[in-house]
Amino acid sequence: MKPSIYEDSRDVFLDTVDAKDYIQLERISTIYQVLKDSIKKPFKMVLLYGKPGTGKSMFLSKLHESIASEQKAYLYKTPILDESEFYKTLAQDLYEIRYDGELNFTQFMRVVENRELVEAIVPVIMLDEAQLYSTIMMEKIRLLSDTRKVKFVIALHKTEKEDIIAKEHFQTRIWESIKLENALPSELKIYIQKKLMKANCIDTASMFTPKSINLIHKLTDGNYRDTNKLIYTLFDIYHYYAQNTPNKIKRNEISAKIIEMAAIHTGLINA
Ligand SMILES: Nc1ncnc2c1ncn2[C@@H]1O[C@H](COP(=O)(O)OP(=O)(O)OP(=O)(O)O)[C@@H](O)[C@H]1O
Ligand SMILES: [Mg+2]
Repeated sequence: MKPSIYEDSRDVFLDTVDAKDYIQLERISTIYQVLKDSIKKPFKMVLLYGKPGTGKSMFLSKLHESIASEQKAYLYKTPILDESEFYKTLAQDLYEIRYDGELNFTQFMRVVENRELVEAIVPVIMLDEAQLYSTIMMEKIRLLSDTRKVKFVIALHKTEKEDIIAKEHFQTRIWESIKLENALPSELKIYIQKKLMKANCIDTASMFTPKSINLIHKLTDGNYRDTNKLIYTLFDIYHYYAQNTPNKIKRNEISAKIIEMAAIHTGLINA
């Protein structure tokens, strides 16, 4: 197949988490500032929550990238479920201490407590997918945070069926909770267009009329992951047409029919 402008546009919507692809949205940048401020406060642990696909991992990556130059910050993208491994990784990252054998909570706690804080700002550990840590583990993380020698930012998704943040350990006031939400139609428009423009796909960016944005929003509820999937498929269909029946597609605006085809294909609507 020969390349088409739709191919590049399609690949913009691959579902990946990379700080360099981060799109600044107004509502998120307010939250971002709250988080950056709260990272400097002692005591408070930060809880970032929201439904799957609302951009928590993306947000953490961006935050990590931006604060790493100012303070010690580590992002654990996948949970380290083995307790000893978890403490050993922390010991290595925070203090550059290597342990060969097992390291249990009591031992590690002693290390943390005896540590003089050399940095002006407390080091930050960011834990993504934290819904996978056990309740006991979360309680230990809280105790570590109580030493005020390490700070935790925790991201987890709140699913409908289990209301994780209602659990006891998130009830205490040491938590600063921040919720990420799906995009509003106006935000979705900015999201889609900025994403395309960043990749120099100016022509396709201008094809998204308010009408097409509203339809996409209706189908995805403004969820970033679902929107990615939908638009990826949408441009894949456009690419196909461009190869085979190029005079069948209008180039000035996204067709509602193709949006619907893409939605059926991605399972957002039932055929
Ligand atoms: N601000 C943003 N800028 C650019 N892309 C974003 C942004 N927010 C979300 N995305 C896109 O949406 C996709 C889903 O976001 P992300 O993976 O961060 O969701 P999540 O909340 O961590 O979901 P889960 O709970 O399933 O882990 C990402 O792959 C990314 O492409
Ligand atoms: Mg995630």
